[in-house]
Amino acid sequence: MQASLRDSWLLRDVEIPTRVVLAPMAGVSVQAFRRQGRRFGAGLVCSEMVSCAGIEHRNERTLGYLRVGADEHPLAIQIFGSEPRTMAEAARMVEAAGADIVDMNFGCPVGKVTKTGAGAHLLERPELACAITEAVASAVSVPVTVKMRRGVQDGSRACLELGPRLVEAGAAALTLHPRSAKQMYTGVADHTLTAELVELVDVPVIASGDIVSRVRAEAVLRSTGAAAVMVGRGAQGNPWAIREIVLGDDTPPSREEVAAELILFVRETVRELGERRASGFLKKFYGWYLGHGRFPKPFKNELVQLQTTEEVVTRLLAAAPGAAAILERLEAELPDPEDDVLLDGMPISIYGGG
Ligand SMILES: Cc1cc2nc3c(=O)[nH]c(=O)nc-3n(C[C@H](O)[C@H](O)[C@H](O)COP(=O)(O)O)c2cc1C
Repeated sequence: MQASLRDSWLLRDVEIPTRVVLAPMAGVSVQAFRRQGRRFGAGLVCSEMVSCAGIEHRNERTLGYLRVGADEHPLAIQIFGSEPRTMAEAARMVEAAGADIVDMNFGCPVGKVTKTGAGAHLLERPELACAITEAVASAVSVPVTVKMRRGVQDGSRACLELGPRLVEAGAAALTLHPRSAKQMYTGVADHTLTAELVELVDVPVIASGDIVSRVRAEAVLRSTGAAAVMVGRGAQGNPWAIREIVLGDDTPPSREEVAAELILFVRETVRELGERRASGFLKKFYGWYLGHGRFPKPFKNELVQLQTTEEVVTRLLAAAPGAAAILERLEAELPDPEDDVLLDGMPISIYGGG
């Protein structure tokens, strides 16, 4: 019988309440994004990739990625690196920070990462990939998972060779984005490979790539036998896509709802990154939220020009006054920031506004 997207499932001993996972995305998956994903029905959320070298050197910005909110669980924090000992050390920090799962990035195609021997480079270094997995899995007691691409070159089937070996080395689940590293985001994700991988391993497989609707999610679950689907770009500025995929509720959000969610996102991100970093970081989100025919295009251009996030909030409230009441309700439901887990000795100052 086919699993329903609303069913819970187990990733080793971690119960995941739905079969939709929010993708790790560098420059996107801040805490506000993950919390929002959980609220709209994602069963599991994931941090963006965090450098294990940055963790080792106690880089302030890197450590900021290890802040875990009380309402994020279950949460995976993803690490990347190329050295078993440093990866194991980083995994211990991730576990201490309160993550439920340590995920490892064996798929990033970006040169800055692969040239250090990390990310997709590991798809061509199976011995090292297994050594890292073994070191990390024995360093922590939470489940360790791996996210990978199909291989480096177009048409590669490296993931099918490597996947079972990673499971033998201790991986408790695998996520496959079946594009090659060379493809970046062109072409389509070939989920026939996901189906083949599911046949080869006895741990849950998560299917990532081009899942943008419930129809697509159900088709991929059915044709691959994957335990869950992962949603990435489809959820950027569009948490309603997650609700549609999980619940089948395709009611488009009102302008007031869109404005309220965006304002909450802005405020949470300012709290996490500080005004200076957040104001630049947030600009791409304005287009993502206000698109889909929700607001006229010149309005987005206007927001992008504004200097401070407070001006953005004021402008949004003027355009959709009804957003204030929705926002008040959303904010009342948020947990107290004091409940966030902070590692001992972690610098608070980086959160700009504490
Ligand atoms: C902006 C962006 C940043 C990403 N960063 C990461 C990352 O940090 N770690 C990772 O494993 N994958 C990363 N990915 C890949 C996604 O997790 C996902 O596998 C891919 O986008 C395909 O899914 P989609 O078609 O639903 O977007 C990123 C993708 C995008 C678009």
